Amino acid sequence: MDEKFLEGKGAVITGGASGFGRGAAYTLTEKGADVVLADINEELLEETTTKVEQTTTKKVIPIVCDVSISDQVKAMAKQTFEELNNVFILFNNAGTADYSLRDITQVKEVDWDRILNVNLKGQWLVANSLLKKMRKQPFEPLAGKMICTSSMGTKQLSPILPTYCISKVGVIAMAKLFAKALAPKITVNTILPGIHTTGIYLNSEDLIRTMLKAGNTRIPLGRIGTVEDVTNVLMSLASPASDYITGQEFLVTGGLAI
Ligand SMILES: NC(=O)c1ccc[n+]([C@@H]2O[C@H](COP(=O)([O-])OP(=O)(O)OC[C@H]3O[C@@H](n4cnc5c(N)ncnc54)[C@H](O)[C@@H]3O)[C@@H](O)[C@H]2O)c1
Repeated sequence: MDEKFLEGKGAVITGGASGFGRGAAYTLTEKGADVVLADINEELLEETTTKVEQTTTKKVIPIVCDVSISDQVKAMAKQTFEELNNVFILFNNAGTADYSLRDITQVKEVDWDRILNVNLKGQWLVANSLLKKMRKQPFEPLAGKMICTSSMGTKQLSPILPTYCISKVGVIAMAKLFAKALAPKITVNTILPGIHTTGIYLNSEDLIRTMLKAGNTRIPLGRIGTVEDVTNVLMSLASPASDYITGQEFLVTGGLAI
């Protein structure tokens, strides 16, 4: 496969300031893409942009945007099409967790709204703001590709993360519906990560180890997941090698969800 298979193509990465989004910024620019990094965390966004720019000659455009707020998403999409010639890849990835750890009978409405709005409505708003133009792009055989981030928590529902699990089940359904609606021009697939050291776990392997121990959980492949474990699958889904795959879920869990 051509090493620079995204040369001349643009990519939007939501949650681009940290974790999988930051990892994606490195790998997508390495494959030749110009990228927009959309994130709510301005400081982290600046830091990531500077770091990625040091490794590439490609455009790295930071846009501060809360994906759960329609007007901000519209403004982000407008600026994106002004800065990039096209959007071939949409990595619909921004997400957050409910750290209150209340079970489904105790969830507060404010937490329900926040998690569902960011994790599910946010992906839908971002998709709708970009896909109309994406599907008209003159690339062949596909006009573009959307890759969404869901979670292993959709297969093993966690009683202490109800809103999170519900939002991520919704992401899978949403992605499949988009896959049907946008075929044959755009493919839509979903990555379901397991437990990876990112901002969502405060970038702390120790915290993850404590959590795994408390839950008596053993990862079959014997280690905690990395950002690269996810971006490797993302690369495959962004490449021509996956052009015949749409509407599918890809578990990246070290065997946790077997
Ligand atoms: N790390 C894991 O083990 C794991 C497992 C399953 C799923 N995920 C999912 O992976 C995705 C990426 O998370 P991560 O693990 O890289 O964590 P992370 O915290 O490192 O990155 C998430 C990014 O999303 C941004 N963000 C949060 N709310 C936002 C909003 N309203 N608008 C725009 N940006 C917002 C954050 O500022 C952050 O930069 C999330 O959807 C998360 O649910 C992560």
